[in-house]
Amino acid sequence: MSSTRNKLNKKSKLPFNVNRKSILGILSLAYQEFIDSFLTKTKFKKPKEIEVLELVRKNAIKNSPESILKIIDNYAYKKTFLMNIGDQKGEILEEAIRDSQASNILELGVYLGYSTIRILNNLNDVSKLTSIEANEEFARIAKEHIKICGLSKNHLLKVGKSSEIIPKLKEQYDFVFIDHWKDIYLKDLKLLEEFGLLKKGAWVFADNVVLFNLEDYLDYVRTSPNYESKFIPTLREYSKSHPDGVEISRYRL
Ligand SMILES: C[S@@+](CC[C@H](N)C(=O)[O-])C[C@H]1O[C@@H](n2cnc3c(N)ncnc32)[C@H](O)[C@@H]1O
Repeated sequence: MSSTRNKLNKKSKLPFNVNRKSILGILSLAYQEFIDSFLTKTKFKKPKEIEVLELVRKNAIKNSPESILKIIDNYAYKKTFLMNIGDQKGEILEEAIRDSQASNILELGVYLGYSTIRILNNLNDVSKLTSIEANEEFARIAKEHIKICGLSKNHLLKVGKSSEIIPKLKEQYDFVFIDHWKDIYLKDLKLLEEFGLLKKGAWVFADNVVLFNLEDYLDYVRTSPNYESKFIPTLREYSKSHPDGVEISRYRL
């Protein structure tokens, strides 16, 4: 049995000091966002997402997902925060994708395509990923990043709000990665259940459950008889001190 599968069998538990530490993590993000948006509005710099795309266009090695991920990580560590899953949690996500042997994956929240690239890079020829992103500009950037990586083949990107797209989905998924706005994780998970889109045994991987203190979501997956759920503590993306964590839940129905 793989290490991720072993971790799933343990009982879920959040660290007791999650709230206080989470606030520091969020304040630090808010500060970085404030400075960046001030500099962008006063025309001292381009939007950070455009800066990343230009760096990728200029420096990435074609068909090398690793080179694009490195450029994006370097930018987020050295210049300003980017809301990608980041390198540490990104590796946990990749391990979970491999362990699950999922063939039909759904991603909620794409941003610049960072997690999308990590997922696609672990798929075999017959597996596929559908991603949903509400912001048209982010979707356009992500598409270009994914194309430069040479990973567009098994990928479908749907642009629009998850609440509008989920009810129109026709297939069942055996892995769902949830990483869009934090207040709709639970609503969208219930929507996926309601429309019968989760295969029996499906993995549901939720990011940022500590940083944003997602108690309603965690209560649900930990107490519902339909899920077996495991918390993995981590650091927040691109931080060396602020705690975060991911919750991996298996759908039993
Ligand atoms: C945290 S970012 C995603 C990061 C990405 N998963 C990664 O790790 O590289 C959240 C993204 O979700 C998108 N989003 C927010 N609410 C959404 C919704 N209801 N439907 C689809 N996308 C949404 C935002 O536009 C944003 O790009």
